[in-house]
Amino acid sequence: MRAGARFHQCPSGFHGRVSAGKAGVDTGEEARLDFIVVASQRPMNLRLGAPNELVLERGDGSSHPVHPLWLRERCKDAASMDLRTQQRLQDPSDLDLDLKVVALSQPARGVYKVTFSDGHEGTFSGDEILAEAALADNSHDCPAPRLWDGKLAEFPRARWRADPSEGELLGWLESFLTFGFVIFEGVPTQPGTVLKVGSMFGFTRETNFGALFNVRSTPNATDLAYTSVPLDPHTDNPYRAPVPGIQLLHCLINETSGGLSTLVDGFAVAQRLRADDPRAFDVLASTPVRFRYVDADTELTASAVPIELDVTGGLKAIQFSPRLDFVPLFSPERLDTYYKARRLFDHRLRAPDHEIRFLLRTGDLVMFDNCRLLHGRTGFDPAEGLRHLQGCYIDIDGPRSRYRVLRRQLGRAAGVRRSA
Ligand SMILES: [Fe+2]
Repeated sequence: MRAGARFHQCPSGFHGRVSAGKAGVDTGEEARLDFIVVASQRPMNLRLGAPNELVLERGDGSSHPVHPLWLRERCKDAASMDLRTQQRLQDPSDLDLDLKVVALSQPARGVYKVTFSDGHEGTFSGDEILAEAALADNSHDCPAPRLWDGKLAEFPRARWRADPSEGELLGWLESFLTFGFVIFEGVPTQPGTVLKVGSMFGFTRETNFGALFNVRSTPNATDLAYTSVPLDPHTDNPYRAPVPGIQLLHCLINETSGGLSTLVDGFAVAQRLRADDPRAFDVLASTPVRFRYVDADTELTASAVPIELDVTGGLKAIQFSPRLDFVPLFSPERLDTYYKARRLFDHRLRAPDHEIRFLLRTGDLVMFDNCRLLHGRTGFDPAEGLRHLQGCYIDIDGPRSRYRVLRRQLGRAAGVRRSA
């Protein structure tokens, strides 16, 4: 008997193969981010099997019963969870490991009633089960990153509004999550505004530089960012744990002709390296590097691999700052392979075909993913005039949370049925 609930693996339309398009990495290669669900040709499906089995049929044609404990720990009745917080009232590790389903029925289309061997009864939405099953093991259920390189033709730009509509804000977040950055134009240039912009997307991450930092050339600078020298692509603050996830830079004034901002999609470069030279990729994904920052009041050190993978082997973060990295004293053979791999990665990161450049004009603000993108700038002549940016960090999960909440709210407003 076929169950009524059917669900495509891309319920939100945001999962799928990375599309290179005119902006993507040049793809004779497989330009796929490993953490993205690959859309299948067939929808997933639930059906009643015997005896008392709820069977998941996957898009690739495989099928398996849904584990009784997997269902049992998702019971949403008042005895199992606090209905207001949706948090469990019972430690699921205390459930019977040999729990069985002793009765299973489908009282309505897409609704399953389950009686467990511990006597508990639960009612489940087929849509919710399939939506969860459709997520990749490491999915954040957000727009999939779209890899890009120096051929990126249209930058994600938006006219800033302090009171955007929910739809407008959702669009900004989609751009950010897809491209890893967004440039806002017309942001008021009152000092401190960058914090207000940041608070729209998440919580400010204060550091020893303060909640807000000023980027301008100063004598006796404590960081090369505060000089006028060019800065090669790097990620910020790899010496912290955790690393600040997102950076915002707001241009209060720029009277110089240089000082162009640069961005590189580190995931695109890493993915291409993985295809071209898997040995170098593996070395960078497995060599712990010490990053260090020291000034009169601060000494920060953290170890991180330049290319960080998640538990599924997908790209998770890039940590790369050639001004601050100190590889441990490994054997000459191991260091030989590391130095070759770092050189290859670094040269690709600095290659013009991966980099985009743009001038931050007065009132422009760029927000970028510091775990995916590398940033830098060209040098400038401070004698030409002032160049003053203000920056701040926010945590990586802020925009993702805002995106999900807005999607939920807009879905409700549009009358979208999210559960049975
Ligand atoms: Fe930086």
